[in-house]
Amino acid sequence: MLSGSDTNKKMAGEEAVNYIEDGMIVGLGSGSTVNFMLKKLGERVKEGLKVKGIPTSIKTERLARELGIPLIESVNIERIDLAIDGADEVDNDLHLLKGGGGSLVREKIVDEASDKLIIIIDGLKKVSHLGAFSLPIEIVPFGWKLTEIQIKKLGGIPTLRKKNDEIFVSDNGNFILDCDFGQITDPQQLHYKLKLLTGVVETGLFVSITDKVIIGRNSRVDVLHR
Ligand code: A5P
Repeated sequence: MLSGSDTNKKMAGEEAVNYIEDGMIVGLGSGSTVNFMLKKLGERVKEGLKVKGIPTSIKTERLARELGIPLIESVNIERIDLAIDGADEVDNDLHLLKGGGGSLVREKIVDEASDKLIIIIDGLKKVSHLGAFSLPIEIVPFGWKLTEIQIKKLGGIPTLRKKNDEIFVSDNGNFILDCDFGQITDPQQLHYKLKLLTGVVETGLFVSITDKVIIGRNSRVDVLHR
């Protein structure tokens, strides 16, 4: 039996599959909501839908392979028709805060390059302003405490991400700082400031790239458009 939140994620994820057309190259995001989408897509592929997927994390790659979804090698990606991804927060302008699962770099490479980006969320993630969820920032491990000091100077309160008491290492071999900036009123400006810091690889702010948000809530789906 699924929880209310998982039912919402499943509804949003399965609805997104209806936007995938035969022959498309599809960016496959990461996270539990995307996993529901992948299961439905796997069924469609078994029924004959022809697609090629581009996974944004090792976990997504593993599940997609199990489900029989054909994949493109990352070195051979030249175009993406549609990307479908989850998010941790979505604001009124459809700016996103992402990276709770630690896959923000590959997600952003794929989501930005895609002709269309559909975000799938549980209704609780739709917010008026980003920032209640700490902002994940992927950083180079070398001298990471120096990068942390620079982020603090920009007003963030960083926490080094850990998993089972070990430092969490991303699919790219980097560390993640989860940073509390309070309410983020100008995500674009904050993103630019952070990107100028040398040790920062990428931030979890995905600004002005979303075309559609599919929200599962109260046993139905709502769709927001840019
Ligand atoms: C992964 O790094 C994140 O950006 C996910 O897209 C985000 O955390 C959403 O995850 P869930 O669908 O599991 O809530």
